[in-house]
Amino acid sequence: SMADHLEKYTNLFTLSPQRMRMIVDAFEETLDKGLQEWEQVIPMFPTWVFGTPKGTESGDYLALDLGGTNLRVCLVSLLGGCKFEITQTKYRLTEEQKQEDGCKLFDFCAECIKEFIDTHLPNVTHDNPIVIGFTFSYPCLQERIDHGILIRWTKGFGAPNVEGHDVGEMFKESLKKFNVPAVMTALLNDTTGALIASQYVRPKTKIAVILGTGCNAAYSEDIKSIGKLKDKNLDPDDVVAINCEWGAFDSDFHQHLPRTKYDIHIDEHSNKPGEQAFEKMISGRYLGEIFRLVIMELVDEGAMFLGQNTYKLEAPYSLDTAFLSLMESDPTDELLTIIGIFNHFYGLETTLAERQFFRALARLIGRRAARLAACGIAAIVRKKGYLEEGCEVGADGSLYNKYPGFAQRIHQGLVDVLGAKGKNITTYHAEDGSGAGAAIIAAMTKARKDAGK
Ligand code: BG6
Ligand code: GLC
Repeated sequence: SMADHLEKYTNLFTLSPQRMRMIVDAFEETLDKGLQEWEQVIPMFPTWVFGTPKGTESGDYLALDLGGTNLRVCLVSLLGGCKFEITQTKYRLTEEQKQEDGCKLFDFCAECIKEFIDTHLPNVTHDNPIVIGFTFSYPCLQERIDHGILIRWTKGFGAPNVEGHDVGEMFKESLKKFNVPAVMTALLNDTTGALIASQYVRPKTKIAVILGTGCNAAYSEDIKSIGKLKDKNLDPDDVVAINCEWGAFDSDFHQHLPRTKYDIHIDEHSNKPGEQAFEKMISGRYLGEIFRLVIMELVDEGAMFLGQNTYKLEAPYSLDTAFLSLMESDPTDELLTIIGIFNHFYGLETTLAERQFFRALARLIGRRAARLAACGIAAIVRKKGYLEEGCEVGADGSLYNKYPGFAQRIHQGLVDVLGAKGKNITTYHAEDGSGAGAAIIAAMTKARKDAGK
């Protein structure tokens, strides 16, 4: 019966507090390894964004955002006094564009910027160029703020001839090629942007997480705690933002996370088997697919949709994580939203018992994701010793913003792992990292340069 099936999946997808604490122990150790040595599982990239914003940063900047659901070009006016305004244009990247040659991808970005400047910024010319902060949300090893070697694509991107290259340089080439009156001075990750943008308005923020298509975190670290920077002649009393790239936790050897066969299937059929093990259990790109794989298993066992044609549901990635959000928030007893989804998108009839099962399954998958994210946050909190004083965590991304109850589940997870003091750790919706964050970082970079650093 559906109840027996549910019991089986409940066991598979439930993370006990004890299991979570084991994950946090391993996580904390892995974070530390990444800080001390280069080329570790969690790379812990120094971002060259030093200190915290003052709130007085001001001026007009362009921000280019590549790496979330949309490609965005934003005009950000920093008004000082911790305030800013944004005007933006969104572009959709096709699946083909994500796989075609890297040069084309950056050319497309440059063309979008050119179009934006032509439309909105008549005063910007080659004699009076505008500064761009480029949010490129993939793992990059940076030697300076406007540089970054792409270590590996994540989130399904596969454009050839970018991995191993300096994306800062590639983007600058494209700007030159299209004669765009703009100068890129800062390359950043969306987590770094979210951290700095959040600190601009809420200085107590210590950590930022993105829970969207991908999953990652950044936080402020003391230079003196970063062993691998000891030869770089930096001020030991300063702080720098670290882009953790924690989505890579438990990659390759898979010793710590309780992966199910659905997680393993997703990994093995992805364009990057073995990589981003943590992210593949949490982020929006994968949750719908985990759900779909469970349903297909039941179909194969003859437990549902007998005599109906399931070919639409058989297509990989045909079930978007947004559907899980909708299923969880269906307010009706009959679960009419779920009737609609299965009918409209897959041509399938469902019984009430099946629909209740689907909703319960969505809850299991969504809750597991939130509790794993809580493990990552708890690891940073413990490592930094923030439990007593508490800290604020800025969070952004479609999962955090749109999935019902995601934040509450993270908070419950933090209490399960950290005890009652876990209540001192709170998340809130971060400021727009890829927009405002990119602009603030460009402004901080200029201030540092003007100060001769
Ligand atoms: C946006 C942030 O809200 O979320 C971006 O401003 C971030 O910085 C993005 O990259 C990630 O979410 P998603 O769901 O678009 O991958
Ligand atoms: C992926 C990327 C990372 C990004 C995250 C959220 O994990 O590798 O750079 O921050 O997605 O967008």
